[in-house]
Amino acid sequence: MEDFLININGQIHNGPEAQISVFDRGFLYGDSVYEATRTFNKKPFRIDQHIERLFQSAEKISLTPTFSREQILSEVLKTIHAGSASDATVRIVLTRGTNSDLGLDPELSGPNNLIIFTKEIKPNPAWWIADGVSMIFFQKKIEASGSLPKTGNYQENILAHKEAHAQKAYDAFLVNTHGFVTEGTTSNAWIIKDGVLYTPPLKDGVLDGLTRRALLEMAKRQKIILPLIEKSLNKDDFRNCDECFITSTTRNIVPVTKIEGRNVGSGSPGVMTLELLKQYLEFVN
Ligand code: PDD
Repeated sequence: MEDFLININGQIHNGPEAQISVFDRGFLYGDSVYEATRTFNKKPFRIDQHIERLFQSAEKISLTPTFSREQILSEVLKTIHAGSASDATVRIVLTRGTNSDLGLDPELSGPNNLIIFTKEIKPNPAWWIADGVSMIFFQKKIEASGSLPKTGNYQENILAHKEAHAQKAYDAFLVNTHGFVTEGTTSNAWIIKDGVLYTPPLKDGVLDGLTRRALLEMAKRQKIILPLIEKSLNKDDFRNCDECFITSTTRNIVPVTKIEGRNVGSGSPGVMTLELLKQYLEFVN
Protein backbone atom coordinates (compact mmCIF):
# COMPACT_ATOMS: atom_id res chain seq x y z
CA MET A 1 0.00 0.00 0.00
CA GLU A 2 1.08 3.56 -0.65
CA ASP A 3 2.80 5.20 2.29
CA PHE A 4 0.39 8.01 3.24
CA LEU A 5 0.14 9.09 6.89
CA ILE A 6 -1.82 11.91 8.46
CA ASN A 7 -1.13 13.35 11.88
CA ILE A 8 -4.10 15.19 13.40
CA ASN A 9 -3.23 17.04 16.61
CA GLY A 10 -0.61 14.43 17.48
CA GLN A 11 -2.53 11.26 16.51
CA ILE A 12 -1.22 9.45 13.44
CA HIS A 13 -3.74 7.86 11.04
CA ASN A 14 -3.54 5.99 7.76
CA GLY A 15 -4.51 8.36 4.91
CA PRO A 16 -8.02 7.10 4.10
CA GLU A 17 -8.99 6.84 7.79
CA ALA A 18 -8.10 10.39 8.83
CA GLN A 19 -11.10 12.56 9.73
CA ILE A 20 -11.63 16.09 10.91
CA SER A 21 -14.77 17.93 12.10
CA VAL A 22 -17.04 19.53 9.48
CA PHE A 23 -16.96 22.57 11.80
CA ASP A 24 -13.23 23.05 11.23
CA ARG A 25 -12.77 26.61 9.94
CA GLY A 26 -10.25 25.46 7.35
CA PHE A 27 -13.08 23.41 5.82
CA LEU A 28 -15.79 26.04 6.33
CA TYR A 29 -13.89 29.16 5.25
CA GLY A 30 -10.37 28.26 4.11
CA ASP A 31 -9.39 29.85 7.44
CA SER A 32 -5.99 28.17 7.66
CA VAL A 33 -2.35 28.47 6.68
CA TYR A 34 -0.16 25.78 5.19
CA GLU A 35 3.30 24.75 4.05
CA ALA A 36 4.51 22.13 1.61
CA THR A 37 7.98 20.67 1.75
CA ARG A 38 9.63 17.30 1.17
CA THR A 39 12.11 14.92 2.74
CA PHE A 40 15.37 13.65 1.29
CA ASN A 41 16.35 10.40 3.03
CA LYS A 42 13.86 11.09 5.85
CA LYS A 43 15.32 14.55 6.46
CA PRO A 44 12.79 17.38 5.97
CA PHE A 45 14.09 20.05 3.59
CA ARG A 46 14.58 23.54 5.10
CA ILE A 47 11.99 22.71 7.76
CA ASP A 48 12.88 25.63 10.03
CA GLN A 49 12.28 28.09 7.19
CA HIS A 50 8.96 26.40 6.35
CA ILE A 51 7.77 26.57 9.96
CA GLU A 52 8.89 30.19 10.14
CA ARG A 53 6.93 31.01 6.95
CA LEU A 54 3.90 29.20 8.42
CA PHE A 55 4.08 31.54 11.42
CA GLN A 56 4.52 34.57 9.13
CA SER A 57 1.43 33.53 7.11
CA ALA A 58 -0.49 33.04 10.39
CA GLU A 59 0.49 36.53 11.52
CA LYS A 60 -0.71 38.02 8.23
CA ILE A 61 -4.20 36.61 8.84
CA SER A 62 -4.17 37.36 12.61
CA LEU A 63 -4.15 33.67 13.50
CA THR A 64 -2.39 33.14 16.80
CA PRO A 65 -0.89 29.63 16.75
CA THR A 66 -1.82 27.49 19.75
CA PHE A 67 1.11 25.20 18.84
CA SER A 68 4.71 26.30 19.26
CA ARG A 69 7.35 26.03 16.52
CA GLU A 70 9.01 23.24 18.55
CA GLN A 71 5.74 21.27 18.88
CA ILE A 72 5.13 21.53 15.14
CA LEU A 73 8.69 20.41 14.36
CA SER A 74 8.40 17.48 16.72
CA GLU A 75 5.07 16.37 15.17
CA VAL A 76 6.55 16.68 11.68
CA LEU A 77 9.51 14.48 12.63
CA LYS A 78 7.22 11.98 14.39
CA THR A 79 5.07 11.63 11.26
CA ILE A 80 8.05 11.26 8.94
CA HIS A 81 9.56 8.55 11.15
CA ALA A 82 6.24 6.67 11.47
CA GLY A 83 6.26 6.18 7.66
CA SER A 84 8.56 4.02 5.59
CA ALA A 85 9.20 6.44 2.69
CA SER A 86 12.62 8.05 2.69
CA ASP A 87 11.52 10.65 0.13
CA ALA A 88 8.11 12.07 0.99
CA THR A 89 6.06 15.22 0.52
CA VAL A 90 5.25 16.91 3.82
CA ARG A 91 2.27 19.21 4.13
CA ILE A 92 1.66 21.15 7.34
CA VAL A 93 -1.81 22.67 7.75
CA LEU A 94 -2.74 24.85 10.71
CA THR A 95 -6.41 25.86 10.89
CA ARG A 96 -7.91 28.46 13.21
CA GLY A 97 -9.76 25.60 14.90
CA THR A 98 -13.17 24.00 15.17
CA ASN A 99 -16.16 26.34 15.37
CA SER A 100 -18.78 26.07 18.04
CA ASP A 101 -21.23 27.59 15.55
CA LEU A 102 -21.38 28.40 11.82
CA GLY A 103 -20.55 32.09 12.30
CA LEU A 104 -17.47 33.87 10.92
CA ASP A 105 -16.34 35.22 14.29
CA PRO A 106 -12.84 33.85 15.03
CA GLU A 107 -13.76 33.99 18.74
CA LEU A 108 -16.09 31.05 18.05
CA SER A 109 -13.18 28.72 17.35
CA GLY A 110 -11.47 26.38 19.76
CA PRO A 111 -7.70 25.71 19.69
CA ASN A 112 -6.03 25.34 16.29
CA ASN A 113 -6.06 22.04 14.45
CA LEU A 114 -2.63 20.91 13.25
CA ILE A 115 -2.67 18.42 10.40
CA ILE A 116 0.52 16.97 8.92
CA PHE A 117 0.41 14.84 5.78
CA THR A 118 3.34 12.73 4.63
CA LYS A 119 3.13 10.81 1.39
CA GLU A 120 5.76 8.99 -0.60
CA ILE A 121 7.02 11.31 -3.33
CA LYS A 122 7.20 10.26 -6.95
CA PRO A 123 10.24 11.50 -8.89
CA ASN A 124 9.53 14.46 -11.21
CA PRO A 125 8.37 13.16 -14.62
CA ALA A 126 11.36 12.99 -17.00
CA TRP A 127 9.49 14.96 -19.70
CA TRP A 128 9.51 18.13 -17.54
CA ILE A 129 13.25 18.34 -18.13
CA ALA A 130 13.34 16.75 -21.58
CA ASP A 131 10.55 18.87 -23.14
CA GLY A 132 9.67 21.58 -20.64
CA VAL A 133 6.11 22.59 -19.70
CA SER A 134 3.56 24.96 -21.24
CA MET A 135 1.89 27.90 -19.52
CA ILE A 136 -0.95 30.34 -20.14
CA PHE A 137 -1.68 33.70 -18.48
CA PHE A 138 -4.55 34.08 -16.03
CA GLN A 139 -5.89 37.50 -15.04
CA LYS A 140 -6.42 37.81 -11.28
CA LYS A 141 -9.48 39.77 -10.16
CA ILE A 142 -8.53 40.14 -6.52
CA GLU A 143 -6.12 42.97 -5.83
CA ALA A 144 -3.19 41.66 -3.78
CA SER A 145 0.17 43.22 -3.12
CA GLY A 146 3.19 42.46 -0.99
CA SER A 147 4.50 39.10 0.07
CA LEU A 148 1.42 36.85 0.15
CA PRO A 149 0.46 34.57 3.05
CA LYS A 150 0.12 30.88 2.18
CA THR A 151 -3.46 30.29 3.29
CA GLY A 152 -6.01 27.54 2.70
CA ASN A 153 -7.83 29.82 0.25
CA TYR A 154 -6.40 29.02 -3.21
CA GLN A 155 -9.59 29.82 -5.13
CA GLU A 156 -8.03 32.02 -7.84
CA ASN A 157 -5.07 29.67 -8.22
CA ILE A 158 -7.46 26.73 -8.65
CA LEU A 159 -9.45 28.60 -11.32
CA ALA A 160 -6.20 29.49 -13.09
CA HIS A 161 -4.99 25.88 -12.99
CA LYS A 162 -8.37 24.65 -14.26
CA GLU A 163 -8.26 27.14 -17.14
CA ALA A 164 -4.70 26.00 -17.99
CA HIS A 165 -5.88 22.40 -18.20
CA ALA A 166 -8.89 23.42 -20.32
CA GLN A 167 -6.35 24.94 -22.75
CA LYS A 168 -4.18 21.78 -22.53
CA ALA A 169 -1.38 23.69 -20.79
CA TYR A 170 0.54 22.54 -17.72
CA ASP A 171 -0.26 25.59 -15.59
CA ALA A 172 -0.91 29.34 -15.57
CA PHE A 173 1.08 32.44 -14.74
CA LEU A 174 -1.04 34.75 -12.59
CA VAL A 175 -1.30 38.38 -13.71
CA ASN A 176 -2.11 41.01 -11.07
CA THR A 177 -4.61 43.84 -11.44
CA HIS A 178 -1.77 46.18 -12.59
CA GLY A 179 -0.87 43.87 -15.47
CA PHE A 180 2.26 42.36 -13.89
CA VAL A 181 2.96 38.64 -13.93
CA THR A 182 3.37 37.45 -10.34
CA GLU A 183 3.90 33.66 -10.13
CA GLY A 184 2.55 30.26 -11.15
CA THR A 185 -0.40 28.75 -9.27
CA THR A 186 1.96 26.84 -6.93
CA SER A 187 5.37 28.08 -8.09
CA ASN A 188 7.49 31.20 -8.58
CA ALA A 189 8.14 32.60 -12.06
CA TRP A 190 11.45 33.42 -13.78
CA ILE A 191 12.71 34.60 -17.15
CA ILE A 192 16.15 35.00 -18.72
CA LYS A 193 16.70 37.81 -21.23
CA ASP A 194 20.07 38.83 -22.75
CA GLY A 195 22.01 36.91 -20.10
CA VAL A 196 20.15 38.35 -17.09
CA LEU A 197 17.84 36.39 -14.79
CA TYR A 198 14.64 38.18 -13.69
CA THR A 199 11.89 37.34 -11.19
CA PRO A 200 8.91 39.47 -10.08
CA PRO A 201 9.39 41.33 -6.76
CA LEU A 202 7.34 40.31 -3.68
CA LYS A 203 5.59 43.69 -3.74
CA ASP A 204 3.67 42.62 -6.87
CA GLY A 205 1.79 39.98 -4.81
CA VAL A 206 4.08 36.97 -4.78
CA LEU A 207 4.64 34.13 -2.30
CA ASP A 208 8.12 34.40 -0.76
CA GLY A 209 9.03 30.96 -2.14
CA LEU A 210 11.88 29.13 -0.47
CA THR A 211 13.31 27.95 -3.80
CA ARG A 212 13.13 31.59 -4.95
CA ARG A 213 14.94 32.59 -1.76
CA ALA A 214 17.64 29.96 -2.37
CA LEU A 215 18.28 31.34 -5.89
CA LEU A 216 18.49 34.90 -4.51
CA GLU A 217 20.93 33.66 -1.85
CA MET A 218 22.99 31.90 -4.53
CA ALA A 219 23.11 35.06 -6.66
CA LYS A 220 24.24 37.12 -3.67
CA ARG A 221 27.05 34.64 -3.03
CA GLN A 222 27.87 34.58 -6.76
CA LYS A 223 27.04 30.90 -6.97
CA ILE A 224 25.02 31.18 -10.19
CA ILE A 225 26.09 31.88 -13.72
CA LEU A 226 23.83 34.90 -14.24
CA PRO A 227 23.16 38.27 -12.64
CA LEU A 228 19.72 38.27 -10.98
CA ILE A 229 17.33 41.22 -10.83
CA GLU A 230 13.94 41.42 -9.05
CA LYS A 231 11.77 43.52 -11.37
CA SER A 232 8.09 43.91 -12.25
CA LEU A 233 7.51 42.00 -15.49
CA ASN A 234 4.55 42.12 -17.86
CA LYS A 235 3.17 39.51 -20.26
CA ASP A 236 5.33 40.79 -23.14
CA ASP A 237 8.47 40.34 -21.03
CA PHE A 238 7.50 36.68 -20.69
CA ARG A 239 6.46 36.33 -24.36
CA ASN A 240 9.76 37.79 -25.58
CA CYS A 241 12.20 36.21 -23.15
CA ASP A 242 15.03 33.84 -24.15
CA GLU A 243 14.31 31.26 -21.43
CA CYS A 244 11.67 30.77 -18.78
CA PHE A 245 11.17 28.48 -15.79
CA ILE A 246 9.18 27.96 -12.62
CA THR A 247 10.39 26.92 -9.13
CA SER A 248 8.93 25.17 -6.09
CA THR A 249 10.27 23.07 -3.23
CA THR A 250 8.83 19.80 -4.52
CA ARG A 251 9.74 20.41 -8.20
CA ASN A 252 13.00 22.42 -7.95
CA ILE A 253 13.41 24.14 -11.36
CA VAL A 254 11.11 23.23 -14.26
CA PRO A 255 11.78 24.70 -17.74
CA VAL A 256 8.86 26.46 -19.49
CA THR A 257 9.07 25.99 -23.26
CA LYS A 258 5.67 27.30 -24.41
CA ILE A 259 3.63 30.31 -23.34
CA GLU A 260 0.11 30.72 -24.81
CA GLY A 261 1.00 28.00 -27.33
CA ARG A 262 4.06 29.88 -28.66
CA ASN A 263 7.65 28.67 -28.26
CA VAL A 264 9.84 30.28 -25.62
CA GLY A 265 13.23 30.83 -27.34
CA SER A 266 14.02 27.75 -29.38
CA GLY A 267 11.10 25.80 -27.86
CA SER A 268 13.47 23.44 -25.98
CA PRO A 269 14.49 23.69 -22.30
CA GLY A 270 16.97 26.54 -22.03
CA VAL A 271 20.68 25.82 -21.67
CA MET A 272 21.05 28.35 -18.82
CA THR A 273 17.94 26.98 -17.10
CA LEU A 274 19.40 23.47 -17.08
CA GLU A 275 22.72 24.82 -15.81
CA LEU A 276 20.88 26.70 -13.03
CA LEU A 277 19.07 23.48 -12.08
CA LYS A 278 22.43 21.74 -11.76
CA GLN A 279 23.85 24.58 -9.65
CA TYR A 280 20.69 24.74 -7.51
CA LEU A 281 20.79 21.00 -6.73
CA GLU A 282 24.47 21.26 -5.80
CA PHE A 283 23.72 24.26 -3.58
CA VAL A 284 20.80 22.74 -1.66
CA ASN A 285 22.37 19.31 -1.29
N1 PDD B 1 3.49 25.73 -3.39
N2 PDD B 1 3.90 30.45 -5.17
C1 PDD B 1 2.81 29.76 -4.73
C2 PDD B 1 1.46 30.38 -4.91
C3 PDD B 1 2.97 28.49 -4.12
O1 PDD B 1 1.89 27.82 -3.68
C4 PDD B 1 4.28 27.94 -4.00
C5 PDD B 1 4.52 26.61 -3.36
C6 PDD B 1 5.38 28.68 -4.47
C7 PDD B 1 6.79 28.17 -4.37
O2 PDD B 1 7.24 28.17 -3.03
P1 PDD B 1 8.38 27.18 -2.51
O3 PDD B 1 9.58 27.40 -3.34
O4 PDD B 1 8.56 27.57 -1.09
O5 PDD B 1 7.83 25.78 -2.65
C8 PDD B 1 5.15 29.94 -5.04
C9 PDD B 1 3.64 24.35 -2.95
C10 PDD B 1 4.51 23.56 -3.84
C11 PDD B 1 2.28 23.75 -2.80
O6 PDD B 1 1.35 24.48 -2.55
O7 PDD B 1 2.16 22.55 -2.89
